Amino acid sequence: MLTASRRWRRDGKSIGLVPTMGALHAGHLSLVERARLENELVVVSVFVNPIQFGPNEDLERYPRDWNHDFKMLEAAEVDAVYRPSVMAMYPPEASTRVRVGGLTDTLEGAARPGHFEGVATVVTKLFAAVEPDRAYFGQKDAQQAAVVNRLSRDLDLGVEIRVVPTVREPDGLALSSRNVYLSAEERHAALAISAALREAAGAYASGERDQARLRARLAARLALEPLVKPEYAELVDPATFRKPGTLAVIAAKVGKTRLIDNHDLEKPFPG
Ligand code: PAJ
Repeated sequence: MLTASRRWRRDGKSIGLVPTMGALHAGHLSLVERARLENELVVVSVFVNPIQFGPNEDLERYPRDWNHDFKMLEAAEVDAVYRPSVMAMYPPEASTRVRVGGLTDTLEGAARPGHFEGVATVVTKLFAAVEPDRAYFGQKDAQQAAVVNRLSRDLDLGVEIRVVPTVREPDGLALSSRNVYLSAEERHAALAISAALREAAGAYASGERDQARLRARLAARLALEPLVKPEYAELVDPATFRKPGTLAVIAAKVGKTRLIDNHDLEKPFPG
């Protein structure tokens, strides 16, 4: 990877990086397509990053299917794939972690201690290995994209962070590698998450601005599905991830599967 990237840099070619944990779907591919439009070369990294998973999270059972991923990446005509081993990324003597302050105190940062430190550390390492001009992240993980943007600026990494809209199933469910965990019944119940965002966007479009009433709408829609156990359903500022604001953010357990989604109420909900 280092060799290829250095050569490309020397030849003056622009490089777009799409970091992923594999189990690729159309959401990942939309990042690749955007990267393709804006760069001469596209690199996708595939690495299930152990240090961003908590002790009781799904690291062991996280879906891994290299044959499937390889086919998708081949069809997407990416220029290179960076797929390091865990040992290469984190040899036993490695002891550095990257921590982004402020932005990581709320929501996903509060719900998943150490998660964003794991993300910031791996993204710093991926940027160092690939030396991209631009890197592509999904709006689906809005707080992650903001953390990485802060990271790139604060550490002068010189990588432009681009955020790409969330790709959804026709019924509204945001694509996620974790959707494969859902039973048919859970898959149906999970629709409450995007439905809640759609309803709140509708209320906002009709003039509702009261934060408590908008939040109550999210909660009420989620409560219609007993299989869905919300962890948070809030309205936050899309830049700071603190209350109040127009970004509706939801995290919920559906059975054993933890899903997140968000939508900025100032925009119409797609579909
Ligand atoms: P992963 O969950 O594989 O997601 C890789 C990228 O795809 C992230 O930027 C994520 O926001 C984006 N993505 C996921 N679902 C999407 C959807 N439905 N629409 C648009 N984009 C979507 O996020 C990670 O991996 C990791 O934390 C990583 C950044 C790779 C660091 O380990």
